[in-house]
Amino acid sequence: PEPAPSAAVPDAGSPGHVLLRRVGTVDPLSLDDYRAAGGYAALRRALRLGPAGVIREVSDSGLVGRGGAAFPTGRKWQATAQQPDGPHYLVCNADESEPGTFKDRVLMEGDPFSVIEAMTIAGYAVGARLGFLYIRGEYPRALRHLENAVALARERGLLGPDVLGSGFAFDIEIRRGAGAYICGEETAIFGSIEGYRGEPRTKPPFPVEKGLFGKPTAVNNVETLVNVLPIMLMGGPAYAAVGTGGSTGPKLFCLSGGVRRPGLYELPFGATLRDLIEAAGGMPEGRTVQAVLLGGAAGAFVRGDELDIPLTFEGARAAGTTLGSGVVLVLDDTADLVATLVRVAAFFRDESCGQCVPCRVGTVRQEESLLRISAGADAAAEVPLLREVGRAMKDASICGLGQTAWNAVESAIDRLDLFGGPDRAASDDIQQSTAAGDRA
Ligand code: NAI
Ligand code: SF4
Repeated sequence: PEPAPSAAVPDAGSPGHVLLRRVGTVDPLSLDDYRAAGGYAALRRALRLGPAGVIREVSDSGLVGRGGAAFPTGRKWQATAQQPDGPHYLVCNADESEPGTFKDRVLMEGDPFSVIEAMTIAGYAVGARLGFLYIRGEYPRALRHLENAVALARERGLLGPDVLGSGFAFDIEIRRGAGAYICGEETAIFGSIEGYRGEPRTKPPFPVEKGLFGKPTAVNNVETLVNVLPIMLMGGPAYAAVGTGGSTGPKLFCLSGGVRRPGLYELPFGATLRDLIEAAGGMPEGRTVQAVLLGGAAGAFVRGDELDIPLTFEGARAAGTTLGSGVVLVLDDTADLVATLVRVAAFFRDESCGQCVPCRVGTVRQEESLLRISAGADAAAEVPLLREVGRAMKDASICGLGQTAWNAVESAIDRLDLFGGPDRAASDDIQQSTAAGDRA
């Protein structure tokens, strides 16, 4: 049998929860339960505010995207809404595939109506009559719960030609991915929905201008959308008072690895890495933190003595790392870091769509080099090659996959002193020879 949605939330039912408050406490298949637990009050307020009022509240809230890139949601909605040529579309990116991420899955399985309600508000704000929910193919239960939620919402007039008698028409189509990580990249989603190969397109133009079917499109992550509900209910300024100045509101963290109680944790922005690990019961007796991979495979390592880093976008940036979508993978003192890097490299090599050379070839070369190291080759001799390949991928790849495929390896070399530590001289030599090559 499948585990209950709340099984991934060790402190389900905690009074401090905002985003997770219904997960594990209401029946995810019952619209009546959802409404009894406050559901659809946010949409009613949104319809009273009008589209511009909704965008104003979201902008005032300081909400930024929770998929990993932290782009301001109010700005994205405003930019989509102001495009003159429609139809406008909304896409909910539910193709959560970053290794170590499972927050959107828990929301969709445990509180599916919240995703549908939030999409309806977003569609209203940006002027869309149709929204697509693009869900990861490996999430069958989330799919079932969402299909049920859409059907019941339609039946009760919460979706359809006249939402809640307001005259606003909005409906949602669910599209299922087929297992490719790259299809979570927002422009690859468009290709996948349109019936083409899921391959990223160059940006700009950004989707707000030219997105699905070439039309203005707002693409938002599941967690981002679910944050819109408390914003509607408490108002943008009150929401902005939660967290820190640069990272407002609550945040979901996907904690995995060597801690006592791995799972999904909701904390207001501002807690440190240490606070999060302690919330999960700390480390088992006798174990210490060797390193933490923040942000998943596309993220970066920090050392076990850097646990005071605040889990905020600005705090992670200032510490030279990234929060990404909220993956926190704790590696204890027994973990084999080289083996972890090989796994990360194999993942990117496997998932590269192959459209551009730096990523298609670079991810292969990176994995080969790490495999040589793990087989006993001189690591210091491999570092200049890893840097050269990494730099080419970062600078010349079309999309975020290739641009971030070297992040974890780079941080392991420079921050964890793996493979003999930073080798700036070698790096400078490579940059000079690359520049000379460019001139030639
Ligand atoms: P991005 O920085 O290119 O864009 C972020 C968002 O802002 C996009 O929706 C983009 O269209 C929009 N945007 C950026 N500049 C804009 C402008 N000037 N005008 C209007 N809109 C603008 O980042 P991207 O490639 O969309 O996402 C990268 C992130 O995704 C990484 O941080 C990574 O951590 C995360 N990621 C998350 C995964 C997950 O499963 N949650 C999987 C893979 C990556
Ligand atoms: Fe495809 Fe990689 Fe190029 Fe992205 S960077 S378009 S995944 S080959």
